[in-house]
Amino acid sequence: MSTPVNTFAGYPRGWFLACFSSELGPSEVKPLRYFGQDLVAYRDEAGVAHVLDAHCPHLGAHLGYGGKVEGACIRCPFHAWRFDAHGVCDEIPYASKIPRGAKIRAWAVREINGVVLLHHDATGAAPAYEIPVIPEYGTEQWLPWVTAIYRIKTHPREIVDNLGDRAHFAPVHRTEIVDFQFEIDGHRAVQRAVGKAHLPGGGVDNFSSTTTYHGPGYLLMKMDGALKNYMLIGHTLNDESTLDLRLGVTLKIVGDRARTEGYVGQYMANLKAGFEDDIKIWEAKVFRERPVLCEGEGPISELRRWYRQFYEGQTSSGAVQQVEATP
Ligand code: FES
Ligand SMILES: [Fe+2]
Repeated sequence: MSTPVNTFAGYPRGWFLACFSSELGPSEVKPLRYFGQDLVAYRDEAGVAHVLDAHCPHLGAHLGYGGKVEGACIRCPFHAWRFDAHGVCDEIPYASKIPRGAKIRAWAVREINGVVLLHHDATGAAPAYEIPVIPEYGTEQWLPWVTAIYRIKTHPREIVDNLGDRAHFAPVHRTEIVDFQFEIDGHRAVQRAVGKAHLPGGGVDNFSSTTTYHGPGYLLMKMDGALKNYMLIGHTLNDESTLDLRLGVTLKIVGDRARTEGYVGQYMANLKAGFEDDIKIWEAKVFRERPVLCEGEGPISELRRWYRQFYEGQTSSGAVQQVEATP
């Protein structure tokens, strides 16, 4: 199969998943590649997650391969320079004077709802919005995220289109949509749907859902159906044509915990099957800038205009301006 390349120059601004919290254990160091850049995530000894540019200002080693956590800092594996959480070098084992340029960019990070988020803005501007807390997450009545991670050769524009693409639910997801509402509110895009999902193993799930994009890379669906649940989708560009998509589901416990835990495997398997049907289409399709649309479509054009706002004022080359860390 030939692989069409979907490029859209540059990277959007906003909050994106760096990883699930569970992917970054105590004092763990993890290399990442997002927005065309090499990064390092680490969890410090107090449990706080940080993301820095990956390459040491000294001779360029990647801190994500062999870097060691010390207190709130990370130590380079090559000559053991140590950098604090702001990316500022605070110790060189063989020198008493630290050069002025001995710093790396520190990214804005939040850890909330069981995910580590990093903020991307090519101009270095501060976040203009925040990701809201899921009040139920982490409480006794809800299970922790069950997760899946995909690397997909596509552009987020395809995934964002899906939210407004009412007509694909029946052929791709065997889901009848009974009611479909859509609303844009600044950095949020909200879809409200009522429908019937035909389950792969037989049976029908009557559901109602509210699905919200909070900025360009974080989607949360609250669903009431056979089971109450939240589904989280985070997609973060590796480069201009590949992304990591993280899928998480948390179920409300009904009856006893073990019984709900028994459902979650099948529930996730159904969701993943639905997703994989979308992925097959995304990876092989082309992006139509000017699609031929007809009656009965969802608000595809509106959603595209909404998504474009996150590229305004960003560099078109995709090169992210280097912003010096502030101590
Ligand atoms: S390359 Fe990092 S300390 Fe030398
Ligand atoms: Fe879909």
